[in-house]
Amino acid sequence: MKYAPINPKFPKLLHGGDYNPDQWKDIPGIWDEDMRLMNLSQCNAMSVGIFSWVALEPEEGKFDFTWLDEIMDRLAANNAYAVLATPSGARPAWLSQKYPEVLRVGSNRQRNLHGIRHNHCYTSPIYREKTQIINRKLAERYKDHPALLVWHISNEYSGDCHCELCQEAFRNWLKVRYDGDLNKLNKAWWTTFWSHTYTDWSQIESPSVIGEQLVHGHNLDWKRFVTDQTIDFYKNEIIPLKERTPEIPCTTNFMGTYDGLDYWKFAKELDVVSWDNYPQWHHPGGDQIIASEVGFVHDIYRSLKGGKPFMLMESTPSMTNWQEVAKLKRPGMHLLSSLQAIAHGSDTVQYFQWRKSRGSWEKLHGAVVDHCGHENTRVFKDVTQLGEALNKLDVIVGTSVEPDVAIIYDWENRWAFNEAPGLNNSHKEYEQTCKRHYQAFWEKGVPVDVINMDCEFTGYKLLIAPILYMVRPGVAERIEKFVQEGGTFVTTYCSGVVNENDLCFLGGFPGPLRKLLGIWDEETDGLYDNDQNSVTIIADGVVKNKRSYQVKQICDLIHCETAQVLATYDGDFYAGQPALTVNDFGKGKAYFIAFRNNNDFEHDFYENLMEHLDLRRALQTELPSGVTAQLRSDGEKDYIFVMNFTKEDKVVNLKEEGQLKELLSGDVVVGDLHLQGYDVKVLAR
Ligand code: GLA
Ligand code: ZN
Repeated sequence: MKYAPINPKFPKLLHGGDYNPDQWKDIPGIWDEDMRLMNLSQCNAMSVGIFSWVALEPEEGKFDFTWLDEIMDRLAANNAYAVLATPSGARPAWLSQKYPEVLRVGSNRQRNLHGIRHNHCYTSPIYREKTQIINRKLAERYKDHPALLVWHISNEYSGDCHCELCQEAFRNWLKVRYDGDLNKLNKAWWTTFWSHTYTDWSQIESPSVIGEQLVHGHNLDWKRFVTDQTIDFYKNEIIPLKERTPEIPCTTNFMGTYDGLDYWKFAKELDVVSWDNYPQWHHPGGDQIIASEVGFVHDIYRSLKGGKPFMLMESTPSMTNWQEVAKLKRPGMHLLSSLQAIAHGSDTVQYFQWRKSRGSWEKLHGAVVDHCGHENTRVFKDVTQLGEALNKLDVIVGTSVEPDVAIIYDWENRWAFNEAPGLNNSHKEYEQTCKRHYQAFWEKGVPVDVINMDCEFTGYKLLIAPILYMVRPGVAERIEKFVQEGGTFVTTYCSGVVNENDLCFLGGFPGPLRKLLGIWDEETDGLYDNDQNSVTIIADGVVKNKRSYQVKQICDLIHCETAQVLATYDGDFYAGQPALTVNDFGKGKAYFIAFRNNNDFEHDFYENLMEHLDLRRALQTELPSGVTAQLRSDGEKDYIFVMNFTKEDKVVNLKEEGQLKELLSGDVVVGDLHLQGYDVKVLAR
């Protein structure tokens, strides 16, 4: 499958980053230097104007585009493009001063002072009007500019506002959700608990640290509202852009698995999704684990639009300034970590930041151009090396992958599970659990989609839903159909517990998944960190050799109804009870893993399933530990990214693969592929 380039007028992989020329206006000659250095490092797409509102509108209604005109012209003259931002991420002081309603009110009901960024109300009609005015000016001015490539809407939308305008909007949102029927809302929120029944809509307020925060349905609806309101704000921002530049794609930069917004809903409104990626490379936890976790997130971004390539909108050329330790990327890591994004479906590698800021919070954050101001730095060379590499990979643009496996990672499910008191309060770990399930596939080079529970399941051979705590209406039926038609489904402990309002299913867990899984899940045991128990595999063909696995943190106590027992608990009062089951259902099978473990079980279990189900891999060979292979394809030609996330040299045996071409070196590869520490190769098949 091949998608169109992000913007067909420039069908290449994009390379560039956040460029803040307005910070440097007063230094003569510096923009000339910027252009020279961009050329040298083969940067072709610069994100401009992200926080430039006051530079564009120094006084209300008085605009100054001269500097931006010049930058746009210079970019065009330099064969580069602008990922042009709307400036709503931070506002001018005059705006906050004149219209305090644009400033955010916290959950403690106090209005913030002017300052920082992202500190605005999404509901405020004045803020919406002002952002539209400046956006319209930008669109009118640059609509025919050859440098305009992509619209970068605002920056990292996040947070919530609890002002009176937002309270009113929340109530109106609830009226729509509950058909104007307060009784419906009371039922959905189970408000008879602690005498919470509302008798008038006006009594409802957003969750607050000084008020109500323990009504789960309430919290869930607030999060849904915040997502919808943020999307509504985004839509308001793009109206003038779509009017004047309908052919220019719009995106906004998401933040990985940021909890506060349901990116599945938001992604629908974007033309292309993009995200900001700041892994802690070289953390003592190990690059291999980090790489697998980052792979998981990249795969979310490719899946958010059904396989369409995404943008890596930000990454650091060297280190970040806000992590515990500002570790430099070791030699090789810049190329490797950047091509990792491409390997999983990005068509861009972009940075924060182009030129290291001189003052304030980001003056020591990684940048392409350091304070020394010239190109003779290690980082600049790394960036240039990547620019050269990307130039050799234009064939990759628009390619994608169609995995046999999907893992469900669902925002609403995570919200509900993380709120659930009980189970094991100090170890919820929904996200980590999903990432652990993913790891086995990453290690084998088996491509994975990471989807939510509303996505289409047909086309996959294996569907994995770790902790499917919430089951929204229709989902169980769709999974049943998937299995009935021959699919394999795997889920775990704490699944099928609540409905879309966070109300527990009655009549026995796992609620609507009970028939499919053929079990009754009676109780959940939480384990202290020192508690010991294990499971023994009693059936053949589940794992290769090992038989016993330690359990930790969470154990469900289940009974088989139609399922078959594959493993049992060894200890405690539930010794001998089922710990792993499989249920034959139509042409397929549904597995239930009742226990949490150190991931060694999932590793062995999936290794077996991968073989058994003959899942598509990037390479038909065993990969050495710490090396992964990821696939992109246009349907005819395959491109395989082989990446070594260890310091050690590795060899990958490609005997089975015939002749491959390595695109970065141009070499033909037959037999052994040698990878140095932190090395990456791109093979064409
Ligand atoms: C975020 C922001 C950028 C910058 C970087 C620093 O991703 O979008 O403006 O602050 O963090 O890492
Ligand atoms: Zn507000």
